Amino acid sequence: MDLATDQFLAELLAVLSPRGLVTDTDLVAPWLTDWRGRFTGKALALALPATTAEVAETVRLCAHHRVPIVPQGGNSGMSGGATPDASGHALLLSTRRMNAILRVDQSAREATCEAGVVLQTLHEAAEAQGLRFPLTLGGKGSATVGGLISTNAGGTQVLRHGVMRAQVLGIEAVLPDGQVFNALTPLRKDNRGFDLKQLFIGSEGTLGIITAATLRLVPAIADRVVAWAGVQSIQTARALLLHCEAGLGDALEGFEVVPQPCLDSVLAYLPDARAPLAGSHPWNALIEVVADPQHASGLREQVEAVLAAAVDKGLVTDAVLATSEAQADAFWTLRESVSAAERARGPAMQHDISVPVERMPDFLVEASRAVEAQWPGTRAVGYGHLGDGNIHFHVGAPAGAERAQWEGSEGKAISRMVHDLVTRWGGSISAEHGIGQLKLAELERLADPVALHLLRAVKAALDPEELLNPGKLVALAPSSATP
Ligand code: FAD
Ligand code: MLT
Ligand code: ZN
Repeated sequence: MDLATDQFLAELLAVLSPRGLVTDTDLVAPWLTDWRGRFTGKALALALPATTAEVAETVRLCAHHRVPIVPQGGNSGMSGGATPDASGHALLLSTRRMNAILRVDQSAREATCEAGVVLQTLHEAAEAQGLRFPLTLGGKGSATVGGLISTNAGGTQVLRHGVMRAQVLGIEAVLPDGQVFNALTPLRKDNRGFDLKQLFIGSEGTLGIITAATLRLVPAIADRVVAWAGVQSIQTARALLLHCEAGLGDALEGFEVVPQPCLDSVLAYLPDARAPLAGSHPWNALIEVVADPQHASGLREQVEAVLAAAVDKGLVTDAVLATSEAQADAFWTLRESVSAAERARGPAMQHDISVPVERMPDFLVEASRAVEAQWPGTRAVGYGHLGDGNIHFHVGAPAGAERAQWEGSEGKAISRMVHDLVTRWGGSISAEHGIGQLKLAELERLADPVALHLLRAVKAALDPEELLNPGKLVALAPSSATP
């Protein structure tokens, strides 16, 4: 380590105290690889500030010494956004010690929490007050409020409640020069110029470090019915969704699709899990219907009637309603384990894409056919949030492929082809997981030039030295990485 680095670390230690600074490489190592295991980086040290003031002081020191910062929450992100590069120059800054729920206001239906609060903890805190935080996803045991806001996360309740942006009422963030932007107080109406807090939502740690947020809560539900339905095709699944929307209205909270090959992967991955239906169905729909207290009675009968009508119309081949909360949770576990099961299956290229909702079934059929025809031996599957027009389109490598070699050659070409197709269909190459380092070059290649110019202008205005999360989302100069 050189003198300047020694000096920087000594000053940082004075700010954070030994509890807040980890330099032992063995202890830092677990945080240097992303959830998918695709990226591994190096870091100068791991900073664990406990307060907003400590974050601000850390950022000021980094700005002074020109040390880049990589913010990290639960490290459950899917685009390598929280993983530093291989240079070892960056400071990894984790919010995990900033995990206090500062206030749950029952009458205002709001929660204010520090950025490191884990989603599951927020769910429990809201529940304890008879309320609910209306966003959930498979990574809820590790994803943090700061990470969810920074990626503008989606999940499985978007159909009814919207993405993370819709849940954020106020934000506190430390800017790249160490100033604290305090917009934590929730105002339902405020037209003093641009809505600046929106800049930080979905900015993937490139414009500021979110230290706290005020979030919207909704009333707890009185009842829920969770159904698993077998369907013949993805087009039929879409028709079933429209049928459920017409029959259930706002009570329809989740509608997720899982093709049989993904269900098989999950059943192999979770030895204790059981398939909800007998036999195999090309597609499965997981449907959640909820009732507010005033509409609780008769919910189950209503869902049964809607599904019976779907069977009559030929939309559903078989269906089952969970008979207990434990069974409902077991159905959700099957859905939420698809990513982990697919990861365990072997190398794959993942595409977190959206196209206009009504076009998704046709897109999926065409993209699968095109990829599998051009790269024999690959296996294309799509699963997830059909109701939002957002499918996770994964292309598995041919049997025996060596991961790094395949991902860097054939896999890259496959991703380019998928992203080209998505762009032609008027869609997005990042529906929920953000750009991170995974899709930086692809965004540069495919983004509308005016949009790219605006992204760079905002980055340059807030972080001209590119100290916050360099190499993620947007670079001021075109990146050298090949898409
Ligand atoms: P990290 O992974 O630590 O970081 C993600 C990005 O945010 C990075 O760019 C990081 O630099 C930045 N960041 C983190 N904290 C801060 C902060 N305080 N201030 C500024 N920048 C910050 N995502 C979905 O959208 N929908 C899903 O359905 C979904 N399902 C998932 C299922 C599983 C099993 C897993 C493992 C993940 C899933 N995800 C999903 C992805 C992931 O959970 C989300 O992207 C989540 O928002 C990441 O939160 P995190 O705290 O882990 O962030
Ligand atoms: C999901 O919906 O399960 C995720 O967003 C994770 C994935 O893309 O695999
Ligand atoms: Zn998802």
